[in-house]
Amino acid sequence: MNTFYTITLFLHSWNRWLILVAAIFVLVYAAKGLSSKTAYTASEKKWSLVFLSSLHLQLLIGILLYFVLSPLTAEAMSNFGAAMKDPVLRFWAVEHTFTNIVAIALAQTGSILVKRIPDSRSKHRRTLIWTGIALFLILSMIPLGMMGVARPWFRF
Ligand code: HEM
Repeated sequence: MNTFYTITLFLHSWNRWLILVAAIFVLVYAAKGLSSKTAYTASEKKWSLVFLSSLHLQLLIGILLYFVLSPLTAEAMSNFGAAMKDPVLRFWAVEHTFTNIVAIALAQTGSILVKRIPDSRSKHRRTLIWTGIALFLILSMIPLGMMGVARPWFRF
């Protein structure tokens, strides 16, 4: 494996944990805020920023893998029709990429909508809904073997 590809895949793999931890903090703060009817706090805002920044980073690394480094997507793009019949190539070339791009777009939309509304209760509710849906989509596309594609939880 070429070194740049190895490093990029390593970063993409580990940044997934930052995304997941940040999403959990965002959801817990929003749920607590909603149930205890408290204000939208600086911590909630900070974790939302970490969540979104790590998602944007993941998107950039993902694009680099997809169009430049990954031998899997290169193979898929060399014959897209045939790749659609191969579950592993289809997973990387379409399902993983498309679903995660939708998830990132939803998380970004949620963050814009949260900023637009002044009321704390609505901010908590919007955060919960948009982050919850984005996290669900992200989790569904982490290659843990469910769709016939398994990768290490922790890449070394
Ligand atoms: C929240 C978003 C995302 C998460 C959590 C995520 C997570 C992962 C994980 C865990 C792997 C396996 C890494 C390993 O083998 O250790 C992977 C591989 C990959 N991801 Fe993502 N990903 C995300 C978004 C994207 C996006 C948006 C793209 C494309 C634009 C992308 C393209 C790829 C490609 C091409 C591979 C396979 C590379 C290879 O094995 O050659 N990912 N991703």
